[in-house]
Amino acid sequence: EEIEKGGYDHFMLKEIYEQPRAIKDTYRGRLLADEGIVRMAGIDQNMERFLNANRIIIVACGTSWHAGLVAEYIFEDLARIPVEVEYASEFRYRNPVITENDVLIAISQSGETADTLAAIKMAKEKGAFVFGVCNVVGSSIARETHAGAYTHAGPEIGVASTKAFTTQITVLTLIALKLAKEKGSLSEAEFHGYLTELEGIPAKVEKALESNALIETIATEYKDSTNCLYLGRGYNFPVALEGALKLKEISYIHAEGYPAAEMKHGPIALIDEEMPVVVIATRKGHYEKVVSNIQEIKSRSGRIIAVVTEGDESVKELADHVVEVPETSEPLTPLLTTIPLQLLSYHIALMRGCNVDQPRNLAKSVTVE
Ligand code: G6P
Repeated sequence: EEIEKGGYDHFMLKEIYEQPRAIKDTYRGRLLADEGIVRMAGIDQNMERFLNANRIIIVACGTSWHAGLVAEYIFEDLARIPVEVEYASEFRYRNPVITENDVLIAISQSGETADTLAAIKMAKEKGAFVFGVCNVVGSSIARETHAGAYTHAGPEIGVASTKAFTTQITVLTLIALKLAKEKGSLSEAEFHGYLTELEGIPAKVEKALESNALIETIATEYKDSTNCLYLGRGYNFPVALEGALKLKEISYIHAEGYPAAEMKHGPIALIDEEMPVVVIATRKGHYEKVVSNIQEIKSRSGRIIAVVTEGDESVKELADHVVEVPETSEPLTPLLTTIPLQLLSYHIALMRGCNVDQPRNLAKSVTVE
């Protein structure tokens, strides 16, 4: 096992650091930026199903569901296709309206999650076209779907999902770009811009990882917290949910992710000088509005850890701590902003003496209901 950890103390840390390579492996052979092509056989062969779809329904559980939420923003924004994202466990039991013109995308790292598998079977019976995004090759979900695209993250051992999440977003971004190109919903220049930017993401993730020492210092200050709030807007709302999930999974600190603007409808009542609030405040994506949310937290003495774009000055004046990530185009920001949140939960859990790779009561893959 020590050899498998490759010199890292834990699988989770190793997998966090593997993300630049994992993302590259996932787009290799698919993203041809110079030629302006996204090549994905599973989409090409079924292009008509996607183009004629009334809507795309995404089903998943846990972290994969958060990747689905990011995909909702990307598909609607870039490809102008309506998307619904569902917890597989709810979807399968609520008698959903599914037609032959629906496309269902199932996202699953393991490809074995019982609820997701059941949702797929139900959608198939109702005539929908089902596409899988899995990491484990030959898994049940990979076999049960009509077509699919693998994430090439490599084996993920840590129960808390990290590189599976970012590679899922990578695949889903490639699909959205491919559909956008086919539909003409992006200009040639925009399309090429996204391809080039996505190709450069691994280097930017590498840069984001350089904040590890800073995040470790921040963690010492918050390791004894009992609650933590995560806020984000737009593309970074699902990142806030994922950040909160990571913290509660491995450190057992109660954490909640919220859309920043919803804070005033509830969570703001919790804010006092004891409450750490992690805010994703990158320069694109409703920046001014998030800054005013930060002001509201500050005026209630909340302690603010902000994830900002490199070189940001305004948030620095308000927040207790800022962690920078490189600038990128808005739909790709989740691939960067999620990195510091993974590291924060890792360090806090470690300082609390928790079993980072195998948190209590959780399983890597949930094959029962
Ligand atoms: C479990 C794991 C999570 C994972 C979820 C969905 O709860 O602990 O990390 O996100 O299952 O798993 P899947 O394999 O379908 O992505």
